[in-house]
Amino acid sequence: MEAVTARAHTNIALIKYWGKRNEELILPMNNSISITLDKFYTTTTVQFCSCLNEDMFLLNGNIASKEETEKISRPLNIIRKLVGRNIFAVVDSINDVPTSAGFASSASGFAALAAAATKAIGLDLDSRELSQIARQGSGSACRSIYGGFVEWHKGEKEDGTDSYAEQLLHPNEWKLSILSVLLESKPKKILSREGMKRTVQTSVFYSGWLETIDQDLSIARHAINERDFEKLGTVLEKNALKMHATTLGANPPFMYWQGATIEIMNVIQELRAKGIEAYFTIDAGPNVKVICESKNEEIVYKTLQGLPMVKDIHTCQPGPGISYLANKK
Ligand code: PMV
Repeated sequence: MEAVTARAHTNIALIKYWGKRNEELILPMNNSISITLDKFYTTTTVQFCSCLNEDMFLLNGNIASKEETEKISRPLNIIRKLVGRNIFAVVDSINDVPTSAGFASSASGFAALAAAATKAIGLDLDSRELSQIARQGSGSACRSIYGGFVEWHKGEKEDGTDSYAEQLLHPNEWKLSILSVLLESKPKKILSREGMKRTVQTSVFYSGWLETIDQDLSIARHAINERDFEKLGTVLEKNALKMHATTLGANPPFMYWQGATIEIMNVIQELRAKGIEAYFTIDAGPNVKVICESKNEEIVYKTLQGLPMVKDIHTCQPGPGISYLANKK
């Protein structure tokens, strides 16, 4: 069978996905909104062959571990079931996502895998169907099928058929700048999967998250629609702080921030007090992403670059959804 290569870009959530209602199907407790980023992506080639007895996974040129291979077999099993064929694949994946930049490569990785594997097995699925397959690799991957501003609908059904992402705005429709700030930090101890689970099960603040999430989503949707940067920035920063507050109310409590994380948050709030509109967001780790309008990109960059705890800064813009490549790279 023919080899197919697809590329998908990573994304950063403005309104976070935080908590699952179904661990197996990866169904979220709430909708989330993200921006797909232009600079960081995964390129994956998939080839199915009846000559194989199991899936083979090459990650950045090396044979992946058993655990990593099991993770990619999950969405591949769904695809095999769809076509009713028990045929295995070689998956060759290159991450142009510096994990050191504090970005997880799982979103771009599972989106690229869903796109390449479905085509390689002979399926012709639409973006919504691809989004549902990517979701079952890693939740946030369902948003990376699309470019620009994206919303993942949590859905109501328990079989997950109405839990998929959709594009809100094309990447060219609002050119914001996203600065990914890499800090001097230790590796994170609690993965998002475990962090979410503990929060949903034990956090005394989780009810507050659920009570206010629809309002955050509605404000963000309007702000994106109206290109109202102040409105969007205000709600995305509040939403990030609220997500992290839930971890402090968990049992046992945990925290993704380090000292440097808080220092950057203060620097951004001080910039705003001086009239420069920039806002921060933080995922399940210590690094900070700063969002601003293009006109302020340089001043924000220079302010952050001068700080002793900042190791590196990558500046991104809204990027594209999945694409198919004739040849890898
Ligand atoms: O998709 P996962 O399992 O990597 O979880 C992502 C969780 C957050 O990054 C914290 C929030 C989000 O919406 O991306």
